[in-house]
Amino acid sequence: MIRFENVGLRYGMGPEVLRDLTFEIKPQSFQFLTGPSGAGKTSLMRLLFLSLTPTRGLVRAFGKDTSALQKSQIPALRRRIGIVFQDFRLLQHLTTYENVALPLRVAGQEEGQYRSDVVELLKWVGLGERMHVLPPVLSGGEKQRAAIARALITRPELLLADEPTGNVDPPLARRLLRLFIELNRLGTSVVIATHDLALMDQVHARRMELADGRLQIHD
Ligand SMILES: Nc1ncnc2c1ncn2[C@@H]1O[C@H](COP(=O)(O)OP(=O)(O)OP(=O)(O)O)[C@@H](O)[C@H]1O
Ligand SMILES: [Mg+2]
Repeated sequence: MIRFENVGLRYGMGPEVLRDLTFEIKPQSFQFLTGPSGAGKTSLMRLLFLSLTPTRGLVRAFGKDTSALQKSQIPALRRRIGIVFQDFRLLQHLTTYENVALPLRVAGQEEGQYRSDVVELLKWVGLGERMHVLPPVLSGGEKQRAAIARALITRPELLLADEPTGNVDPPLARRLLRLFIELNRLGTSVVIATHDLALMDQVHARRMELADGRLQIHD
């Protein structure tokens, strides 16, 4: 699905924050990405989302060498990936429902085509009652679930979630984890960046651990 070969990343003239990353995200797989603050988890998520280009090495996405692609070809690949940002990035002037529906609207769908899908997904993440409020009124955990729903509405093949339990209490974190496991069971590959050890202990999954810019994989 996504394959990295000897990937390195530096910002500007700074030091290399990621070094010699070689790994693969397989279809229908489930993995945690872990490592201390500043280890490069978000940077690696952005590389996976094709919103950063590596300073060296090769990133293949869905069978294509991304360095050989035209800029105009990237959005089509990205549409196959859903991402939950560490800081949510909900649009403050749109309701929960409108935020979640946005990717479909942008893709040119009519409301009649997607309305029931959006409502069903909002209920699935437990936001059925919070559909028509604006993000500033939502709690941290509700914002998190709205961001997750927005990432899932396009039925991506790969879901990237950056600290998706960073702002919620342990019971809600467990519920979100169950939601990701269920999603994976339905066929989506999942990558969860987290430093929540208690969360990772709840499921036997592949662990990708970043330290000093390098990646160690525990299958
Ligand atoms: N836009 C940027 N410009 C310059 N340096 C950056 C930028 N983004 C991240 N960095 C640096 O890259 C390194 C990795 O940062 P990154 O945000 O990927 O870590 P992280 O593992 O996600 O941390 P956290 O757990 O705190 O979210 C850090 O040293 C950070 O300062
Ligand atoms: Mg981060």
